[in-house]
Amino acid sequence: MQRKRTYKLIPVWLALMLLASALAIRPALALEEPADDAQPAQAEPPRTMNGLATTPPMGWNSWNKFACNVDEKLIRRMADAMVSSGMRDVGYRYIVIDDCWHGERDRDGFIQADPKRFPSGMKALGDYIHAKGLKFGIYSDAGRKTCGGRPGSQGYEFQDALQYARWGVDYLKYDWCNTGTRNAQEAYTLMADALRASGRDIVFSLCEWGNQKPWLWGKTVGNLWRTTGDIYDKWQGRHKYMLGMLDIVDINEPLWPYAGPGHWNDPDMLEVGNGGMTETEYRTHFSLWAIMAAPLIAGNDLSRMDQATRRILLNREVIAVNQDALGVQGRRVAKNGDQEVWVKALADGGRAVLLFNRGEQPAEIEVGWQQLGYPRHLSARLRDLWKQQDLPPQVGSYATTVEPHATVMLVVQP
Ligand code: GLA
Repeated sequence: MQRKRTYKLIPVWLALMLLASALAIRPALALEEPADDAQPAQAEPPRTMNGLATTPPMGWNSWNKFACNVDEKLIRRMADAMVSSGMRDVGYRYIVIDDCWHGERDRDGFIQADPKRFPSGMKALGDYIHAKGLKFGIYSDAGRKTCGGRPGSQGYEFQDALQYARWGVDYLKYDWCNTGTRNAQEAYTLMADALRASGRDIVFSLCEWGNQKPWLWGKTVGNLWRTTGDIYDKWQGRHKYMLGMLDIVDINEPLWPYAGPGHWNDPDMLEVGNGGMTETEYRTHFSLWAIMAAPLIAGNDLSRMDQATRRILLNREVIAVNQDALGVQGRRVAKNGDQEVWVKALADGGRAVLLFNRGEQPAEIEVGWQQLGYPRHLSARLRDLWKQQDLPPQVGSYATTVEPHATVMLVVQP
């Protein structure tokens, strides 16, 4: 008994001693010189988001169809077509000139447009685009040269941002060629700061191809970040740094938790209308981009669209899923061989659903209400977004036959 009591008392006594000595010693230690490796306290407030792109950006970009063959006539023609085709009225806004618009820097280091391709200058082109109720986008690169070998922004970040602001630029796509050993987060943060310092609201599109995991740090740096190498106009397959549509989808899908209003995963621009896929495949491509809350940046010749291309790019109901204010990236909730079910929660409590058949044979695909987070006994209203038809209400599930490479896109309302 006696031993036991002593055993219990000693730790209390020891603890009191230690506490007293710690209290006595602490102030003395605090007055000592800081260790050599001590860091100064962080002086800057944490970065915040820039408040832009609360829904995924929509627009057109020159690269997929025209590559380096850009000039002011082409850009004006595309701006005209964006209005006359009705694309502006369903939400497309940004006209983005990709690589190869550049000329030389002037004596003071300010970048100029190529005077042969853009004789009226970028300010005039920006004015033209704005007068049509559209927004103006441009391209640069975090290295000394762009991927097309034109002058990059490295070392000129603040000057370039200022020049873009003077031209009325509303959107910057910032590429990652010729960056050597640069740290992507630092390089993109520097340009983000330069854009803010320009005083103009400029959507910032990070085109780093996913190498340094921009979804982990991009939220307060930019508004969208590429998650993959370049898309090319094929259903599936890889070719050097380029990926077919489905290869891109499979990289982008698991990143759904990182997307939200103001900061989006970017699985690259659309190929709809460029000729390398069937109409069914293009409808699937557009449906997948819509449900993944991906930026909808058309990449075709807007002045020469056939009816099928128009019907895809201008489907208001599919666009509404993409632009839904909740800003959730849809994801795959079931996969059975080549048959998949995808779901995106919507702001009004509804769900967008894709029944997607990757296979070469028609297949029946079913979605159960439990996959949507709804009770089984619920009678839900359904709308087919491609047929633009209401379907009879369904209890518990819905199944239908989906053609090869096709998607049935639905909105389910409780
Ligand atoms: C990279 C980008 C493309 C395009 C080209 C331009 O490959 O990923 O989207 O901008 O550069 O040279």
